Amino acid sequence: MLATLFAQDGSFPLLDEPTNHLDQDGRKQIAQYLKAKKTGFITTSHDRDFLDKVIDHSLVIEQHQLVLTHGNYSDYFIHKEQRDSTAIKKNENLLKDIHHLKQTRQAKFQWAQQAENEKKNNSHADKGFIGAKAAKMMKKATIMKGRLDTAIEERKGLLKEIEKVVPLTINVLPTNHQPLLSINDLTLSYPTKQLCSNITITIEKNDQVLLCGNNGTGKSSIINAIIGTFSGKQSGEILFSSALKISTVRQDYSDNHGSLRSFASSSKINYDQFLNLLRKLGMERATFNVPIEEMSMEQQKKVELARSLAEPAHLYLWDEPLNYLDTYNQQQLIQLIQEKRLPMLIVEHDQNFIKQIATKKIEI
Ligand SMILES: Nc1ncnc2c1ncn2[C@@H]1O[C@H](COP(=O)(O)OP(=O)(O)OP(=O)(O)O)[C@@H](O)[C@H]1O
Ligand SMILES: [Mg+2]
Repeated sequence: MLATLFAQDGSFPLLDEPTNHLDQDGRKQIAQYLKAKKTGFITTSHDRDFLDKVIDHSLVIEQHQLVLTHGNYSDYFIHKEQRDSTAIKKNENLLKDIHHLKQTRQAKFQWAQQAENEKKNNSHADKGFIGAKAAKMMKKATIMKGRLDTAIEERKGLLKEIEKVVPLTINVLPTNHQPLLSINDLTLSYPTKQLCSNITITIEKNDQVLLCGNNGTGKSSIINAIIGTFSGKQSGEILFSSALKISTVRQDYSDNHGSLRSFASSSKINYDQFLNLLRKLGMERATFNVPIEEMSMEQQKKVELARSLAEPAHLYLWDEPLNYLDTYNQQQLIQLIQEKRLPMLIVEHDQNFIKQIATKKIEI
């Protein structure tokens, strides 16, 4: 598809997530092509590093609005952070006002109540006079309460909703195995193709090891070799305890199918927790009734990811987890990995993500 794009001179490119699955060289090639494109172009992408290289305007769909910003994606982000911090300050002031108004409303109510009690308890004084006074005060208090209610509602209406990153959960199991996984001198090949050779990887307790290399060099094949599904020829050692539970996010998950309930049951994961994770990842409840094979690519990706988050594991092998996910989901994953320091082997080409999570890099 990219070759077709590059061959069409004078056309106006409309690109829908062009960097998915592409390695660093491929991403650079598209960026160079687009930067030189005089006609302009429109692209959708969640790759911040790529966007920063190529765009000069961004149109971002936020929760309740479309935001057009001059500049690259980082410019949009800085602009958004400024907007959010102004909104947070305004919200704080409004909340203080609301609190103060509620206190005043309570004081007025007590004041009117006191007058009413005075009328009830005072047996000697002129009940007619006190009764009239109490009624007057009650009326005044009711009017005041109405005004305060309106003022409170007005301020509530001015409160801005600020998008918060909903934290994800994961069923990571504790382990004392050190290292969790050792790969020594691993060489993989198919009869018609030599893949990677002499690969050595060690994953310790808090390691997030990035496996990087160009498309077709054998990154996914290494993951398959670890879990015992590589169908070619392999030599070298892959060592881990037989008690070690491994969870994967596969690059190709097109074999996931059926209802979410049957999928959860065959994956031996808690159904409610699985749905909860899908909601946190932004899947609409209405999609819960759609068979997995009929879901969009992004929804199917969320199913694959939520399964890995829900299944108890000591070690995670995630193969291009960001494909089809938006920057909000990226943020969720970054927060989760940074907070939990998950033992993980990860294949990913997104530079912004890599910078934030990788503690070791293995080039193949
Ligand atoms: N049965 C097979 N026989 C021969 N070659 C195969 C076979 N299965 C896969 N390949 C090739 O092996 C190569 C390595 O595949 P693999 O998916 O491991 O690479 P990768 O580094 O993960 O690539 P990508 O970055 O595109 O995901 C690919 O070029 C693929 O076409
Ligand atoms: Mg791969």
